[in-house]
Amino acid sequence: MSSDSHWQQVYTSKATDAVSWYRPHLDRSLAFVDALGLDHDAPIIDVGAGASTLVDDLLARGFRDLTVNDIAEAALAHTRARLSARPAEQRLQCRVGDITTLELPQAHYALWHDRAVFHFLTDAARRDAYVAQSARAVRGGGHLLVATFAPDGPERCSGLPVQRYDADALAAVFAPHFTRIDDAREQHPTPFGTTQSFQYVLLRRRTAPTARA
Ligand SMILES: C[S@@+](CC[C@H](N)C(=O)[O-])C[C@H]1O[C@@H](n2cnc3c(N)ncnc32)[C@H](O)[C@@H]1O
Repeated sequence: MSSDSHWQQVYTSKATDAVSWYRPHLDRSLAFVDALGLDHDAPIIDVGAGASTLVDDLLARGFRDLTVNDIAEAALAHTRARLSARPAEQRLQCRVGDITTLELPQAHYALWHDRAVFHFLTDAARRDAYVAQSARAVRGGGHLLVATFAPDGPERCSGLPVQRYDADALAAVFAPHFTRIDDAREQHPTPFGTTQSFQYVLLRRRTAPTARA
């Protein structure tokens, strides 16, 4: 089964609150966003957003330039349905596709958010493509907030193998383009009564190339 059909199957066969990564609100991510103090017209993209309620909570805070991406159209259909009753100015841009290859505007986003997506990229070429994509799409001085399973987290997610990271390792992947600002661990309670250890890092897009040693 290809990656997109795997995810399409997940979002057409399971309730959105019956997947291990579900939480009613992405509180840890929202705490980072609140601390950044971004303008409400700052462009924000949530990559591999699934059916998460991050965008609902960002709209409630007054943000109005929001994009959600997912490889599974069915995931974004849940979000569109949930938000369909909102006024027109609170609508989202939905971009279906693989985030490593999707065409995105360059030097555009003030914040790139990823919870539990990058860790599925277990081969170097796709990881490199993701890093290059994020570096192209995030504006100078913009931020990248990435959360993966931590070293003491599960080895698989949704039945697929993942790469686990601590804060140093995760920041190192993006270091050619981004500077580390902050990090946090989170013990995520799944709907099944288990706990998953997550690692978050907050990075800032460099405005000038890194000096070579
Ligand atoms: C574990 S879920 C996390 C969903 C959401 N970020 C959250 O925290 O609730 C991973 C999500 O990434 C999406 N995904 C996986 N690979 C992707 C890719 N290459 N490009 C875009 N989305 C992808 C899946 O469809 C799924 O919605």
